[in-house]
Amino acid sequence: MPRADFSEAQRNKKDEFYTQLSDIEEELRHYKTHFKDKTVFCNCDDPFESNFFKYFAMNFNHLGLKKLICTCYAGSPIAHTELKDLPLLKQNEKMPYMIEITEVKDYNDDGAEDLADIEYLLRNNENTLTILDGDGDFRSEESIGFLEEADIVVTNPPFSLFREYVAQLMKYNKQFVILGNMNAITYKEFFPLIKDNKVWAGYGFNKSMVYRTPYPNLLEANRKFVISKGRDPDEGYVKVPAICWFTNMDIDRRHDELVLYKKYNEKDYPAYDNYNAININNVNDIPQDYEGVMGVPITFLNKYNPDQFEIIALGNSRDNFTPNKDYVNPMKHLKDGSTINGGAINCVLAIRPSEQPINQIYYSADDVPYLIAPYARILIKRRKNEN
Ligand SMILES: C[S@@+](CC[C@H](N)C(=O)[O-])C[C@H]1O[C@@H](n2cnc3c(N)ncnc32)[C@H](O)[C@@H]1O
Repeated sequence: MPRADFSEAQRNKKDEFYTQLSDIEEELRHYKTHFKDKTVFCNCDDPFESNFFKYFAMNFNHLGLKKLICTCYAGSPIAHTELKDLPLLKQNEKMPYMIEITEVKDYNDDGAEDLADIEYLLRNNENTLTILDGDGDFRSEESIGFLEEADIVVTNPPFSLFREYVAQLMKYNKQFVILGNMNAITYKEFFPLIKDNKVWAGYGFNKSMVYRTPYPNLLEANRKFVISKGRDPDEGYVKVPAICWFTNMDIDRRHDELVLYKKYNEKDYPAYDNYNAININNVNDIPQDYEGVMGVPITFLNKYNPDQFEIIALGNSRDNFTPNKDYVNPMKHLKDGSTINGGAINCVLAIRPSEQPINQIYYSADDVPYLIAPYARILIKRRKNEN
């Protein structure tokens, strides 16, 4: 693995960002009842080295799991680093492998069921560890075979393959809890799943997470954040912002009602110029007495209760909504006074201010003097039966 700055790693589709055990514990404690008698599959996780594997192996009995399956991907830099001196792994150095566990006991008689027992199991029961025929790609026939057997998939999948990863989970109708970037909400493949209540936000939403990576962390502010979280940036820890857990399993917070206390008025809630809805800049400002469509920041999903609100569309591209007008010859006015083509305004929600915006990017067109494009807005409506 070539050494590179980790932000460059994200740009270059390098996917080695390992989740900390504490982050996994913090989220999964809310899902305990879902795991009883279930087969869990971690399909982007170096068995033994991954904290997802460790979490489920250590909590196997506590959660009442039926089976845990974990597979890794060829070429992963951390595979084979923790499970030392296992003859099968020595003979198949760097080969991807699979661990399958159906029982965890106090095999080593030390009074606790822990990772030492898992290691004992792997050393003494040759059925638990298998070298894969293929490369461990989650899309491979072999991996899909395990997916079909599984009830629930839990992992942090490769960022660069998030769309494909989710599409596969949906195709095979699996329950899941996975990590992803908040921006995924705006993907044309992912947003419809959110809109149709097939996927929703978990507990951890828009979090700055500290991951371990093989890439050096050279950014001062990032290093400071990592240190503030008790980790050493020189040991490969980095902050990655805007991370969310996504799931399709029912969780309590999805039923919490958002308390609305503001009243609608035309001044504070301007209507869009190209869509029949009002603009709201802060989720807490959603008025309690407005019955029509409202555009809210995507962080709304952190408060979304499908019994209280309906998601209509996403005002960030024509893939996700249809504006009701086209501006003629639109221009974009940059802060330094220069102008460029402003065609983008025809693909997003637009507000029409009465005066020329100052110190702000704005648009104009042959038929409109000034337009402002707020950041991506989810278009929502209160449910009729809601009081
Ligand atoms: C974001 S990392 C997360 C690793 C682990 N799930 C965790 O959270 O600690 C994604 C992992 O997926 C692996 N990966 C990349 N492409 C893959 C693929 N096509 N199939 C399976 N795993 C893949 C990478 O090697 C990397 O270890």
